[in-house]
Amino acid sequence: MERTQQIERVASRAAGILPAEVASPICRQDAGSTFDRLARPYRWLEYAAFGRGLLRCRFDLLPWLADAKRVLTVGEGDGRFVAELVRRFPKLQVDCVEASAAMIARAEARLPAGATVTFHHADARELDFPKAEFDAVVTCFFLDCFSEKTLADLMPRMAASVRPEGQWLVAEFGQPSRGWPAWHARGCLAVMYFFFRLATRLEARRLPDWELEMARLNFACSDRMTRRWDLMAATRWKVARINSQNSG
Ligand SMILES: C[S@@+](CC[C@H](N)C(=O)[O-])C[C@H]1O[C@@H](n2cnc3c(N)ncnc32)[C@H](O)[C@@H]1O
Repeated sequence: MERTQQIERVASRAAGILPAEVASPICRQDAGSTFDRLARPYRWLEYAAFGRGLLRCRFDLLPWLADAKRVLTVGEGDGRFVAELVRRFPKLQVDCVEASAAMIARAEARLPAGATVTFHHADARELDFPKAEFDAVVTCFFLDCFSEKTLADLMPRMAASVRPEGQWLVAEFGQPSRGWPAWHARGCLAVMYFFFRLATRLEARRLPDWELEMARLNFACSDRMTRRWDLMAATRWKVARINSQNSG
């Protein structure tokens, strides 16, 4: 009962960018609550493990949103990204989908006064994402939570919510192929997946090849900024144009 009230409180604040039925509680399983217990220490665990690396990587995405009017973030977490986003671009309308009520509470508390941000407490795997609504979809360290099978279902539905000229911005871990960066990333990712599987019963056991799914969706990477010996990257994806002169 208490949980339902909390969901409705968040859902009732949906301002119409996502249709009402999308903003309603439709969790197949309690995906978010497995992250609830991490909401409070999340930031400090991250800084202990990676310093400011992840934060910088998220913020590397921000200049690419300078012209956006409507942005959707999925798996927003404790709100450090969206708070900085609306601080830099106060006129922006942002929708955030997040499965953990505790993460949403933290994110809400971080927002500057007057920010137009609507939180949707829902499992992204179950959402009927609206079609062609957003100038940008943003996922920060979210795609790595899922298996490739789940991403093959989830990513096309998220991609459909991007306007034809829009973009999908991703801050994500990577696995370099050679040398010291490859060993460094392998070690970091092994520890990270071990921890998250224990702490949150994370679905993924290893970094999924989400870039392959981007390619299947005909998204091409136009910009890439890597950090920490290529352990993480901020990337910008747009629907690839088919050149009709070359295609015949
Ligand atoms: C690894 S954290 C990343 C959080 C944040 N984006 C960041 O950059 O640190 C993954 C986030 O996605 C949320 N999440 C996990 N599964 C989800 C799902 N199926 N639907 C919506 N959110 C989900 C978790 O609650 C958590 O806040």
